[in-house]
Amino acid sequence: MKKNILEIQSNKEIAHEIFELKLKGEFKKEEFIPGKFLHIKCSDNIHPLLRRPMSICDISDDEKQMTVLYRVEGSGTKLLQKKSIGDFLDVLAPLGTAYDLDIRAGEKIFLVGGGIGVPPLYYLGKELKKRGGIIKSFLGFSNRADSFYINEFKDLGEVEIATVDGSLGHKGFVTDKINLDFDALYSCGPTPMFKTLQTLIPEDKRAYIAMEERMGCGIGACLACVCKPNSKYFPNKGYFRACKEGPVFKLHDLEF
Ligand SMILES: Cc1cc2nc3c(=O)[nH]c(=O)nc-3n(C[C@H](O)[C@H](O)[C@H](O)COP(=O)(O)OP(=O)(O)OC[C@H]3O[C@@H](n4cnc5c(N)ncnc54)[C@H](O)[C@@H]3O)c2cc1C
Ligand code: FES
Repeated sequence: MKKNILEIQSNKEIAHEIFELKLKGEFKKEEFIPGKFLHIKCSDNIHPLLRRPMSICDISDDEKQMTVLYRVEGSGTKLLQKKSIGDFLDVLAPLGTAYDLDIRAGEKIFLVGGGIGVPPLYYLGKELKKRGGIIKSFLGFSNRADSFYINEFKDLGEVEIATVDGSLGHKGFVTDKINLDFDALYSCGPTPMFKTLQTLIPEDKRAYIAMEERMGCGIGACLACVCKPNSKYFPNKGYFRACKEGPVFKLHDLEF
């Protein structure tokens, strides 16, 4: 992990309150592995004090550009939204654990994303496709206006869409569409989605999730991001820190 000062190349709205931020720098793919996250200082002043965690949505093949997608939520992301081309961002990265990229060519890979959990799955899907994975993506959004990157995921393979209000794709949750016809499943999104996945997916299947917990320090010191280990597998473990032991976990290693 190191501090990177990165120049903004673009920062544009691509869906309702969803922004695509492109950053210029040097991003070695052996360090910036899918699942790892960035800790971004959103302000040049003291407020807000804490950095904001964001996923890596893509790294260009020449390793000189990184894409981050963010949803405008509160003070930090509102400041990010105001940044212009040529501004610089102070980014601690890469942090946390990565998704397991160890697959065999021809394996069936499911990517299951909900809302702002979708971005890290794009970079992951690209890397798994390069390794010969057959990618199928399940993307869930609140509604059509909030949906994004569907064509990008279509470039990786088959895509199933679900929206809560039915304005695009299946009406309901993305987990309604999941079956067990996969070799490995990777997910990122809200906690209720992970809870449903735990009920659908047997414990012996390869399945991974990335937590988007609230964070403080991002480096394992403050315990703001703790999550509960599954007592069946970790009877003597207190808590995991999403920023240090995570954000990527095996699906059944956490208790919600
Ligand atoms: C590892 C990781 C990766 C993430 N990747 C992305 C990403 O790629 N794109 C993206 O848009 N967001 C991502 N998030 C979530 C993002 O960090 C928060 O949305 C952001 O910190 C909100 O900051 P804010 O100052 O705009 O809002 P705040 O003012 O801090 O909060 C606004 C509202 O959002 C809620 N909130 C804040 N943080 C979280 C959170 N982590 N989970 C749930 N609710 C929260 C608050 O309770 C409040 O209601 C990620 C989080 C983690 C931990
Ligand atoms: S954010 Fe401080 S310990 Fe995880």
